[in-house]
Amino acid sequence: MVKSIGVGLLGLGTVGAGVSNIIQTPEGRHPLVSEIELVRVAVRDLQRKRGATISPKLLTVNPIDVIDDPSVDVVVEVMGGIEPARSLILRAIQKGKSVVTANKAVIARHGEEIAAAAAEAGVYVLIEAAVGGGIPIIEPLKQSLGGNRIQKVSGIINGTTNYILSRIEKEGAAYREVLKEAQDLGYAESDPAADVEGLDAADKIAILSGLAFGGLINRESIPTQGITNLNIRDVEYAKKLGYGVKLLAVTERIDKSNDSQSSLPLAVWVQPTLVPKEHPLAEVNGVNNAIFVEGDPIGEVMFYGPGAGAGPTASAVVADILNIAGISKVGSKNKSLDPLLEASSWRKCHLVEPQRIIQKHYLRIKVEDSPGVIGQIGSIFGQNGVSIQSIVQFDASEAGAEIVVITHAVAQGQVKASLDAIQAFKTVKGLSAQMVCI
Ligand SMILES: NC(=O)c1ccc[n+]([C@@H]2O[C@H](COP(=O)([O-])OP(=O)(O)OC[C@H]3O[C@@H](n4cnc5c(N)ncnc54)[C@H](OP(=O)(O)O)[C@@H]3O)[C@@H](O)[C@H]2O)c1
Repeated sequence: MVKSIGVGLLGLGTVGAGVSNIIQTPEGRHPLVSEIELVRVAVRDLQRKRGATISPKLLTVNPIDVIDDPSVDVVVEVMGGIEPARSLILRAIQKGKSVVTANKAVIARHGEEIAAAAAEAGVYVLIEAAVGGGIPIIEPLKQSLGGNRIQKVSGIINGTTNYILSRIEKEGAAYREVLKEAQDLGYAESDPAADVEGLDAADKIAILSGLAFGGLINRESIPTQGITNLNIRDVEYAKKLGYGVKLLAVTERIDKSNDSQSSLPLAVWVQPTLVPKEHPLAEVNGVNNAIFVEGDPIGEVMFYGPGAGAGPTASAVVADILNIAGISKVGSKNKSLDPLLEASSWRKCHLVEPQRIIQKHYLRIKVEDSPGVIGQIGSIFGQNGVSIQSIVQFDASEAGAEIVVITHAVAQGQVKASLDAIQAFKTVKGLSAQMVCI
């Protein structure tokens, strides 16, 4: 059998083993899979038990052996972390080899440098597995939706937090208990910070934003709030008002009419968000991920499925390898790169100041249970031009009551001015929670 493309793996952990298993069992898959050959694999520990059967002759502890091996045509980086992954990707590119990576952390921070190096060298860097695991979203944004003017991309793109929030919502389970169970089941890392603090979702929305709007944004400037401070009471109140609470990562074009400015203004954020029960994202539960794309003229389209795991993530990695194998098979080497497949930006984008972001807000305000408080609060919002969708009092007792307000879409600055005035009332004990709603 003719092997047309040699693959070198950097990493043979969860994803690397999944990739190896697909390549070694081509039966019933696309015929090109049988033309891919795994020729070299880098790991840290040669003695470790693996989730794939690999000839020990292929293994090395030196990733440079993989990159520099002349029989390696495509380097697949599935080791994770920032360094040495970034330097190894750049080395592969300099050697004229295309790269496939699942590493959102490195792409979110160094994507521009990597894309520039790839363009210079005339090779591809494909990243389908970096967002949404097995869900096709990167190539659809680059290619299938290319005729659209994208308005907004909203994602549930971290399976661990979605699992935790789904359990809290369905069973009223406590955060700490569910996190522990998620760790026992292998859904959460022993150090869950990147997931529960929203950092992983921020990496991914930075990548999706660049693809949807054609320009990279500074990853470190994305306002990011995880689920660690979420109060179960807000999940319960949201449910009573017809909402679920999801950790959403959103990127949205501001000034929808004006595309002619030198840099496109975007609102990008990660935070726990109230999602109306009838919205398709409200039905995304457990470890599943979904990405909801709004564009002109497509309208709304949702991509849904398993956002992590060996098989689903390897499915995306192998799809990228096949794209490269397909191109080298039709002999396009040394010609210009396919503009739909290469990773280039075509305009500048920047984040707008938070005061300009228009959103619906959920506010929980602790008050004394005395007559007229709701009226006082309502009139302050009115004076600041904040129109209210609903205002409800919960848990009235001698100890006080809680007023939950859901506003219509308003600028953050108007909400802040209202809250400053409201908290000056003697009957108001304080703001207990604030979230946004879609
Ligand atoms: N797991 C998922 O479901 C998933 C989903 C989407 C994206 N990703 C991304 O895919 C990448 C890999 O994730 P994973 O879960 O497969 O990680 P993993 O299970 O920890 O595997 C990492 C692999 O890389 C090897 N490695 C790490 N540093 C190395 C070094 N300096 N030199 C040589 N080998 C090295 C490790 O070797 P040893 O085995 O010898 O320690 C291991 O085989 C990450 O970027 C992750 O964010 C993962």
